[in-house]
Amino acid sequence: MPTNNDPVGNNPVGNNPVGNNPVGKKLCLSVKGLTKEFGFGRQKNVAVNKVDMDLYEGEVVSIVGESGSGKTTLSKMLLGLINSTEGDIYFQGKKRDISSYSKKQEYWKNIQAIFQDPFSSYNIFNKIDAVLLDCINMRGGRRLPQAKKVEMMTEACSFVNLKYEEMTNKYPFELSGGQMQRLMIARIFLLKPKILLADEPTSMIDACSRATILDMLMKLRDETGMTLIFITHDIGLAYYVSDQVFIMEHGKFVESGSPDDVILHPREPYTKRLINDVPKIYEEWDLTTV
Ligand SMILES: Nc1ncnc2c1ncn2[C@@H]1O[C@H](COP(=O)(O)OP(=O)(O)OP(=O)(O)O)[C@@H](O)[C@H]1O
Ligand SMILES: [Mg+2]
Repeated sequence: MPTNNDPVGNNPVGNNPVGNNPVGKKLCLSVKGLTKEFGFGRQKNVAVNKVDMDLYEGEVVSIVGESGSGKTTLSKMLLGLINSTEGDIYFQGKKRDISSYSKKQEYWKNIQAIFQDPFSSYNIFNKIDAVLLDCINMRGGRRLPQAKKVEMMTEACSFVNLKYEEMTNKYPFELSGGQMQRLMIARIFLLKPKILLADEPTSMIDACSRATILDMLMKLRDETGMTLIFITHDIGLAYYVSDQVFIMEHGKFVESGSPDDVILHPREPYTKRLINDVPKIYEEWDLTTV
């Protein structure tokens, strides 16, 4: 675990409880004893309870748990959108400092998110060009010539199979759910963050678009080396895409490790139940209990 005395934090040997990361990979985000309580007294709800994790550069990590287990609350703390009640977050080996708005803005160049509901992610009064231009400006491209900006936006749209000419002058609400999801990935393409947090990124769309979105995110990871965090109910998705899986129950990580360890050889009854809840195509469904 990195401390302030260990600003590099890039040696996973000896402090890596998971032990499935190739030696030499750099620690990207590290969380120690992170806790979030909502309410007070009898109303107190510990949404996230003393969570520890180490995420490495270029890794795909899934956090899996039932509804209400604390996944989104944890994501919001990682993103710096809400304060933690206790615990620390380290980014690239240094304790994260987002104490001022400008420090927050600097941090957000490194970590970005795509959310469950793409409709909530855009300012509805901003046209799509403005959404994409904002990303170029955030990356320091404000002074680039207009032609260069258009070229970058065109490239970002074509990465996600959207046509820039058809997008200009439209408002986000004029897009379909799937197009909106892809526009979110086009933003990430331009922003090139070190970490992308995807909270149920494929929940609004059909199976075919879902596979496409996942492909795009994995391709983006391959090209940029970013760390990808999936927040999901879908243990099948976690199995196929992840290097590390964290199983979350009532605000705690009850089990973590490689997908083979956690999903093929689960130890905890909760993990076993999550796995058993996934319908298997080759089994006949028992509908009598429905
Ligand atoms: N702003 C808030 N104020 C009070 N309680 C909250 C707040 N946000 C979340 N909670 C509570 O914290 C717990 C965890 O919620 P969270 O949204 O993190 O769950 P989740 O795992 O993301 O669920 P889902 O899979 O349904 O999205 C829940 O009991 C929820 O009611
Ligand atoms: Mg959630």
